[in-house]
Amino acid sequence: MSAIHQRWMDPRVLVEKTKRITVLAIVAACPLGALAQTPKPDPAAFQVKLWAASCMACHGPDGRAEGTGLTIGGRPAQDLLGKLLGYKSGKLQATIMHHHVKGYSDDELTRIADYLSSLK
Ligand code: HEC
Repeated sequence: MSAIHQRWMDPRVLVEKTKRITVLAIVAACPLGALAQTPKPDPAAFQVKLWAASCMACHGPDGRAEGTGLTIGGRPAQDLLGKLLGYKSGKLQATIMHHHVKGYSDDELTRIADYLSSLK
């Protein structure tokens, strides 16, 4: 066996080569675009989505309750916030919403209104 063959057959060299090839294969299989697109986890944004998800039960997917007059998705944030704060203070009459908004601070309602407004 030649010297070069002996070196290849050395288990330590083999393990090292295999490791290098595995790393190369993983890097090659991972498109850089996919890495760049992976969104950074944003707990605050996720929290707002969870709050808004509770609204969707009555106001429809993406806040669009077609034909019921209860569409809240994609409407101006100031309009939505005005209603929510109105329910909270009791200025606006409601059957349900005055209970629902009491669970949120004004800041949280502002964030919910901004999020719902962003749903196009
Ligand atoms: C249990 C059903 C229900 C849930 C859940 C609910 N809503 Fe409502 N929403 C209503 C009803 C019914 C009205 C009409 C006012 C009333 O009678 O309370 C309303 C009215 C509204 C209005 C005013 C719409 C308009 O044009 O006058 C806004 C804004 C609104 N809701 C936002 C929300 C948000 C934001 C959430 C989640 C935090 C939410 N709602 C959760 C039932 C619900």
